[in-house]
Amino acid sequence: MDILKTKPEMQEWSKNKKKESKTICFVPTMGYLHQGHISLMEKGKPLCDSLVLSIFVNPTQFGPNEDLDSYPSDIENDLALAKKAGVTAVFLPNKQNIYPENYQTEISLQYLPNFLCGKSRPVHFAGVATVVTKLFNIVMPDVAVFGQKDYQQLQVIRQLTLDLDFNIKIVAGDIIREKDGLAMSSRNAYLSKSQRTSALSLSKSLRLAGKLIARGEKNPVAIRNEIETFIQSFPETNIEYISFCNPATLEDIDNIENQVLLAIAVKLGKTRLIDNALIDPSQ
Ligand code: PAJ
Repeated sequence: MDILKTKPEMQEWSKNKKKESKTICFVPTMGYLHQGHISLMEKGKPLCDSLVLSIFVNPTQFGPNEDLDSYPSDIENDLALAKKAGVTAVFLPNKQNIYPENYQTEISLQYLPNFLCGKSRPVHFAGVATVVTKLFNIVMPDVAVFGQKDYQQLQVIRQLTLDLDFNIKIVAGDIIREKDGLAMSSRNAYLSKSQRTSALSLSKSLRLAGKLIARGEKNPVAIRNEIETFIQSFPETNIEYISFCNPATLEDIDNIENQVLLAIAVKLGKTRLIDNALIDPSQ
């Protein structure tokens, strides 16, 4: 497994692969890898000749009061997991490398960031779009894999790929969960024992909503009220949003007729957790 620490090294590596007519699949991450990240590597591995993983905690996607400084990291373990997953090369740039002095350009989208997480994280998606654009330009992949866990991010990436004419196939990976249903996240490491129990309110709400919809409930307000009461019955939970929206545009819907995205964000102490499900009323 090659380890590439600078932009020129990574670009040179990718150019060589292209010269050899080898295709590249790319999985960008911020590290502290878990089974969710690994599932993306496993999904991407058979799609191309080589598999590139990046680990970079991107400062521009964190707001001023967010967890940039405390974001968990364990590079040695990450490299061992990457090797086991069959990664061909790991791109490990530092901040200076990605944002050199006098860096000025930002990529921002007009509509998708106005919903869900974008409301409380105003700089987040411009930070994600900017770094992913740069990573795409540096790694030059043919395919890139992103998790549905961050559904809004996935939509942002799909849109920017289209808008900026990247010739990259975007592949979505399913949400990987702990045995009890909690969606895996590097941020789960922040949870105390009691918060870990309350964190189950998110995945349980998704199941509850699925049941209500299967029984014929079509009114998102009625389901939202039920979920709200349910989540609030768990200690320390602070609901940020419960949204029923159009899976493509992320706009709120007022009647559940077709497939709907239910997206939830809940704060447990300082830790912000998100989860979502695509629910089809006909199934
Ligand atoms: P990070 O949070 O490290 O996530 C990297 C990738 O793993 C994302 O595509 C995310 O959706 C996916 N992922 C996280 N938890 C998952 C789970 N439980 N199941 C399936 N996939 C999961 O997302 C980022 O980093 C950054 O914003 C990044 C795209 C790297 C840009 O900085």
